[in-house]
Amino acid sequence: MSLSDRIEELKEENDAVIVAHNYQVGEIQDAAEFVGDSFGLARKVTELDVSNVVFCGVDFMVESAAVLNTDKRIIHPESQAGCPMAQMVDLDELRDYKEKNPDAAVVSYVNTNIETKAESDVCCTSSNAVKVVESLDNPKVLFVPDRNLGHYVKRFVQDKEVDLWEGYCATHDDIMKEDVEKLMNEYPEAEVVVHPECKPEIVDIADFVESTAGILERAKTTSAKHMIIGTEKEMGYRLKKEVPEKEYHFPGDPTCQNMKKITLEKVVRSLERLEPVITVDEGLASRAKKPLERMIRIGRGSE
Ligand code: 13P
Ligand code: SF4
Repeated sequence: MSLSDRIEELKEENDAVIVAHNYQVGEIQDAAEFVGDSFGLARKVTELDVSNVVFCGVDFMVESAAVLNTDKRIIHPESQAGCPMAQMVDLDELRDYKEKNPDAAVVSYVNTNIETKAESDVCCTSSNAVKVVESLDNPKVLFVPDRNLGHYVKRFVQDKEVDLWEGYCATHDDIMKEDVEKLMNEYPEAEVVVHPECKPEIVDIADFVESTAGILERAKTTSAKHMIIGTEKEMGYRLKKEVPEKEYHFPGDPTCQNMKKITLEKVVRSLERLEPVITVDEGLASRAKKPLERMIRIGRGSE
């Protein structure tokens, strides 16, 4: 029996659903019931009426799902699949900032660990960061941890002071302007769509700045035949699968090694054993749940 057939059998036997982020390898995307961006996955899991969710993504996504869904078993096929940016917040420094700036709201990107979320007023994803910051009454905001997404937010928010943390995603931060420009010269008619985790100089030359789900939406709606995509390379699999008539060009070879730690074999093992189950400290979970739920209530930027 093929691994894919075995997966289908196990899902049925165990009342399980697989969800996967857009950066997961193609065969995992194919095995999943739902593939999406961080916001879509966070919301989707809360809507599922199943006992077991096998979550193919990195640790902060799975942890958020566990915080938001105490009624389901949230299973992470590879607990070593982490997001380095999520570890870039020093809690003492964050608490110190809060003490010195009592009027500031802490907005944490979902790419943070549960301890950081527990210290935050509201979370956001790349799909609604601007909307979340705009929704706040505070005169001042601390945006953690992605300085690039924070810079992007600052372009739209003039009525608040927005302080930035010095975190970044190496996969996106390493995308080079010269590589994007080279592709722009090669395909002058191409539409340039990048993720807001890219550096400001990349955002400056892009036509659109979108979350991974937003990039897919652009591919579905644009009349451009060629697209230059500034994000992790596996996005190309999703794009080619859903909108095959277009050509997608990636500057360099942007790869998130952590996303690739999950394999189809590990998904089968997780479905057979229904583990590893993600558990979170109850006290921390109840504090982290509030900013996560507030983020979901605010909705996507496009809603
Ligand atoms: P999205 O929310 O746009 O899918 O991005 C998640 C992420 O980790 C980007 O690096
Ligand atoms: Fe984290 Fe970057 Fe990987 Fe996204 S691409 S999960 S931000 S390391």
